[in-house]
Amino acid sequence: MAGDLAIVGFNTNIMNFIDQIDHNRLPEHIAIIMDGNGRWAKKQGLIRINGHKKGTQSVRDTVETCAELGIKYLTLYAFSTENWKRPKLEVDTLMNLLVSSLKKEIKTLQDNDISLNAIGSISNLPSKAQKELSEVIEKTKNNKRLRLTLALSYGSREELTKTVQEIALKVKNNVFSPHLISEAVIKEHLYTHDMPDVDLLIRTSGEQRISNFLLWQIAYAELYFTEVLWPDFKKEHLYEAIFNYQKRERRFGKTSEQIS
Ligand code: FPP
Repeated sequence: MAGDLAIVGFNTNIMNFIDQIDHNRLPEHIAIIMDGNGRWAKKQGLIRINGHKKGTQSVRDTVETCAELGIKYLTLYAFSTENWKRPKLEVDTLMNLLVSSLKKEIKTLQDNDISLNAIGSISNLPSKAQKELSEVIEKTKNNKRLRLTLALSYGSREELTKTVQEIALKVKNNVFSPHLISEAVIKEHLYTHDMPDVDLLIRTSGEQRISNFLLWQIAYAELYFTEVLWPDFKKEHLYEAIFNYQKRERRFGKTSEQIS
């Protein structure tokens, strides 16, 4: 909450967080577990799918804010491998929201020089979602300002399992021998092979779990948990998360003295 960060003399409103962000020390890659849509809907006396609908506005605000700030990579956990177990109405609604959002936002992505990317078992998505995704990915592929990645039917264990299978096959076919399997080789086989590691991982709604998201890629990420439910997550909350990130010392295993 904003109040938790208050320092004497600081007024923790949105303008202050904007003013206090050091634009030379922005996280290069932000990843977000967008959680709390169902609880948001319940609090309003609505059914769960209304929370997801409202959550698309927070997706829009967050993408816009990252582009404005100059964040290079934003990865959103939109649908996990485990989410297929939800009621059919909810799964169908999420897939339809994906399709309608892509149709609606293609122009905004183009106008703002944002490229779209998707990670996960994309072939498991309904064909209209796959078609819309590949069209938007193709049309925006040369955009440079921000790379927006949607994790869809994504699970980190599934990603790592696929990676091990692909590497094992290469070893079997004598493409390389086992001792040449390095961290770099593993990274090359991940969905995220052409992206930097996550610097800042945000989870909304008060849950403090990783939920099978980017387990390899968050090895040195700063974790930020907020009580705010995803549909209530606005620009000021993202500024607050970045401000909090910038107050931390990232040591990557070194000592404080070595860093300074
Ligand atoms: C978690 O909240 C959220 C999801 C499983 C889906 C996220 C989807 C959106 C924000 C909307 C569509 C996104 C795009 C990219 C078009 P939850 O349902 O688990 O909430 P709960 O924990 O309160 O039940």
